[in-house]
Amino acid sequence: QRPLCRLLSCPGTVAAALGREEQSSGSSETGSEDRTPKKRFSEVQKERREQAQRTVLIHCPNKISEKKFLKYLSQHGSINNHFFYESFGLYAVVEFSQKESVASLQNVTRTPSLGTEAAIPFRSRYFNLKLKTPLNQTSEQSSMRCRNQSSPSSKKLFELLCCAESVDDQLNTLLREFQLTEENTRLRYLTCSLIEDVAAAYFPDCTVRPFGSSVNSFGKLGCDLDMFLDLDEIEKFSTHKASGNFLMEFQVKNVPSERIATQKILSVVGECLDHFGPGCVGVQKILNARCPLVRFSHQASGFQCDLTTNNRIALKSSELLYMYGALDSRVRALVFSIRCWARAHSLTSSIPGAWITNFSLTVMVIFFLQRRSPPILPTLDYLKTLADAEDKCIIEGHNCTFVRDFNRIKPSGNAETLELLLKEFFEYFGNFAFNKNSINIRQGREQNKPESSPLHIQNPFETSLNISKNVSQSQLQKFVDLARESAWILHQEDKDRLSPSNNQPWGLAALLLPSVANSMSLAKKKKKPASERIKNLLESIKSESTENSTATNG
Ligand code: GTP
Ligand code: MG
Repeated sequence: QRPLCRLLSCPGTVAAALGREEQSSGSSETGSEDRTPKKRFSEVQKERREQAQRTVLIHCPNKISEKKFLKYLSQHGSINNHFFYESFGLYAVVEFSQKESVASLQNVTRTPSLGTEAAIPFRSRYFNLKLKTPLNQTSEQSSMRCRNQSSPSSKKLFELLCCAESVDDQLNTLLREFQLTEENTRLRYLTCSLIEDVAAAYFPDCTVRPFGSSVNSFGKLGCDLDMFLDLDEIEKFSTHKASGNFLMEFQVKNVPSERIATQKILSVVGECLDHFGPGCVGVQKILNARCPLVRFSHQASGFQCDLTTNNRIALKSSELLYMYGALDSRVRALVFSIRCWARAHSLTSSIPGAWITNFSLTVMVIFFLQRRSPPILPTLDYLKTLADAEDKCIIEGHNCTFVRDFNRIKPSGNAETLELLLKEFFEYFGNFAFNKNSINIRQGREQNKPESSPLHIQNPFETSLNISKNVSQSQLQKFVDLARESAWILHQEDKDRLSPSNNQPWGLAALLLPSVANSMSLAKKKKKPASERIKNLLESIKSESTENSTATNG
């Protein structure tokens, strides 16, 4: 076991430092690693969506009596849940028990008169609360607790990691600190629901669904909010009504392709958000991208939002990742750490470019866990064989079927520690034959690369596509170098384990520090590449330890 607090003294108990009580209201799907989600993805989505429809967002005065505020709102119906948070002002998220309460509140709400400016009337669920008379400072103002919506600073993270008891504890700590909280998850579904209200002005009965890391259980506090405008639900209503020999169709405008239809829909919704969407700022229509989207900031929640349409496969990918994340408690801890490691070394970026994406990294971790012996995660093909008729799902001709009932999947018999998995992950990808092999989670084994992109990761559903086509050779090389260096650091630590503490960051914390290999390779450009030397060192350490164990056994 690691000595406690090798680097810094721990303020208070570890539990207090982690703010564990803050997580206590977490529901099963956002809870800590020991409460892995077991609810079906579709159930979670349905419940959350319905909850969001009964919820309102209120910009409050900075000084407010929580008790009076709740009493005032209770006139419209009972309140299930509420919380406050700060983001350029004080906001309250209030969930009523009944949807009708929202309408009741809207009925007593007025459109503001703004003096010289004019307001565009829009009856949303995002309100602004004003006080007719300021509060009596001493008696009425209560100190309400604001829920934090951002991830810990690097300094706090280092403190927490250095105070952990083991590498396993470090990985779980990182997960606990960075995962979306219950409140942040609510705010994400609420934001989608508010955007749906705006889009419904054009497309009544449309649905705006979150996807990507907001819902796949790999989201980190502060990650973007991917949402997609689902117009398929409208189609479903109409097919149900067809009866007898008659078939009624809407008169519509036709356009030459699905892509053009998507662009036109997103264009008007983008305009709508820009002109009428309360709190939607910086709206950019990026319609010529491979996957057209509207990007904007939702000021009140602080989320950077990407709205797409016609994107069912991406939602299905989110469901698949959600399943993988829930199958074994080590998956999320490992993915969070690898994502964090990649971000710390600028392997990933918030700007699109030739870098690896978080989505690709997650698929690489899943693949690695499928390759363990015995496997920690099943292959996608195996999940397909467990599917029943209800699970069948074909999207745009692609077979996206896999089992969705967790009870039908046997837990893994593999008991490897996170520490070992982390080290092996770096070794595995530090030595992977990227030049000839493709990563394939459908079959759970390497395949020959069908094309020459430096990194080839097969898209799990659109199997002819490569999800990492954008990655350049130099970015891939940087990934390999850093993976080798990280494996080396962890090996070195194993060797030093019994030596006295030298007050250095250790384990995961050491891996998040600036790279030695990069600075070495800059300083000694003419020598063998740093990564080659690290690879050789690693190999010598390994053969040393085999020799040692042979010697001992002998
Ligand atoms: P972060 O936003 O970085 O936290 O992760 P994310 O998983 O949300 O990634 P991102 O916002 O880039 O993409 C959102 C979702 O779109 C992903 O979760 C995938 O489901 C899907 N997606 C992203 N990139 C690709 C890709 O290259 N191919 C395919 N098929 N889907 C992708
Ligand atoms: Mg995202």
